[in-house]
Amino acid sequence: MSGTQPIRRDLPVEEARAALKQHFSTFQGQKYAEGWADLWAKGDFLPWDRGHPSPALADTLADHADLIGHAMVDENGKPRRKRALVPGCGRGVDVLLLQSFGYDAVGLEYAADALKACEDYEKEHAGDYPVRDEKVGKGTARFVHGDFYTDDWLESTGFGKDAKFDLIYDYTFFCAMQLPMRPAWAKRMSQLLRPDPQANLICLEFPTNKPAQAGGPPFASPPKAYLEHLSHPGEEVKYDAEGNVRMNPLAPSSPGALERVGHWQPADTHKVGKDAEDKVQDWISVWRHR
Ligand SMILES: C[S@@+](CC[C@H](N)C(=O)[O-])C[C@H]1O[C@@H](n2cnc3c(N)ncnc32)[C@H](O)[C@@H]1O
Repeated sequence: MSGTQPIRRDLPVEEARAALKQHFSTFQGQKYAEGWADLWAKGDFLPWDRGHPSPALADTLADHADLIGHAMVDENGKPRRKRALVPGCGRGVDVLLLQSFGYDAVGLEYAADALKACEDYEKEHAGDYPVRDEKVGKGTARFVHGDFYTDDWLESTGFGKDAKFDLIYDYTFFCAMQLPMRPAWAKRMSQLLRPDPQANLICLEFPTNKPAQAGGPPFASPPKAYLEHLSHPGEEVKYDAEGNVRMNPLAPSSPGALERVGHWQPADTHKVGKDAEDKVQDWISVWRHR
């Protein structure tokens, strides 16, 4: 069970990736999500688990308010807290970060043992997430069990069975998906993001420089992969024989497409998102309904 095992965070990246790939070779197709639950149940090999929130998300929320806005939104003349979703939230660190910025934040996990890890982590570390802005105060954090691709968890968010979100944060969720799942990932993001100019999907794009033929997870996720899929939610995107996305800049975007309204390299990111010279390789992309 996670939380009771010592977690190995010392494995070299290449070794951890080879072990992950080997693990998922027995969890292909429909069994794929079970592969994650199995890792969480064992609890001693969670190589994606950084143990602290994304510096790049903290910077985005603090320094890009001109684009992202703040945690409060005006609804029918009354202020309310924005609702944030972190799909595949793992240990929940980014959920607690969003809460500290004033969002009512929901972490979604398929793995029941990950949710247990979220609860344990929150009990121990709530004090590490001080309120960021006294005028806004703290939001709420809720951890929910479910499959991103189905609706049955929506009601347990507390926002109703038709819940939509003002902010969605994707870090190592897109790259965790098998390539055939990417069209459904993009369609689901489009469905769950509130159709409102103040609602943003924020992706911390990673890994951007992994060769596609190396497979995954994490699967190669350069900026053009997010762009092609989110411009054509639910539709097939062409990949070449090596697994590189084939861009078609002339193809018009599809119904439900999200538009990229911001794209930059963050000043700081997790170590795994930097090269040997410590240069940031990750990108932040921000998406909205048109
Ligand atoms: C690579 S991990 C990333 C976790 C977290 N974002 C982090 O940065 O630590 C991917 C997570 O997605 C979860 N997951 C995979 N498929 C899912 C699904 N269909 N619905 C919800 N969670 C899922 C896994 O259990 C796993 O914890």
